[in-house]
Amino acid sequence: MRQNIVAGNWKMNKTLQEGIELAKEVNSKVGAITPKCKVVLGTPFVHITEVVKTVDASKISVAAQNCADKVSGAYTGEVSASMVKSTGAQYVILGHSERRAYYGETNAILKEKTDLALTNELKPIFCIGEVLSERESNIHFDIVKQQIEESLFHLSAGDFSKIVLAYEPVWAIGTGKTASSDQAQEMHAFIRQLIVSKYGEEVANNISILYGGSCNAANAKELFANPDVDGGLIGGASLKADDFLAIITAF
Ligand code: PGA
Repeated sequence: MRQNIVAGNWKMNKTLQEGIELAKEVNSKVGAITPKCKVVLGTPFVHITEVVKTVDASKISVAAQNCADKVSGAYTGEVSASMVKSTGAQYVILGHSERRAYYGETNAILKEKTDLALTNELKPIFCIGEVLSERESNIHFDIVKQQIEESLFHLSAGDFSKIVLAYEPVWAIGTGKTASSDQAQEMHAFIRQLIVSKYGEEVANNISILYGGSCNAANAKELFANPDVDGGLIGGASLKADDFLAIITAF
């Protein structure tokens, strides 16, 4: 059976000290409950080692928010997948729409990053999603299909099974405008069907597909109740322990 996952994406927020405090608070609050989902904290690179030490690994895993598309060498400012792995992180968020929009990450670059993450035994949380004009022109299914096909469909079934997908309609990220529960389910079912056609029912049924984009305590329950929504990638609402906890307990 596929796993339910609630993953926080802190983005470029929190100093190291603030991040440790937040991780401590999330850890003690998650420690007090029995979560019905895997909890992941996606922190900036500089926080990872300390956050890994701070949390109970049996309940909380740590994710980087990016890794390089190169193995190693003269790439000033970059952080490789093997470096991420050596911190104790287990996941890496790849293809976030902010990386695609502001840092020029293409489907081809993301294919390289995915391969390097998998080679280094990191689980990619691979983000896909359309911008508003694409939805308004009714090409949102084509865009998501292309993102998945060009970055992921070269993988073997075994490697593809290690991926977590996160559908994040760009128009819903940080805007307070969530996709409706029906819009989320419709796209998630489309994605799962696409996986069925490439890898078969068993692989498709075991892949976790998260929803992201203004997911919060008030809407998480309804979103997660959909048969093809297996959790959330949470930005703004992951920056306060209580808000994040309320989403975790929506399962
Ligand atoms: P948001 O961000 O929850 O603040 O909309 C989600 C994301 O970008 O992963």
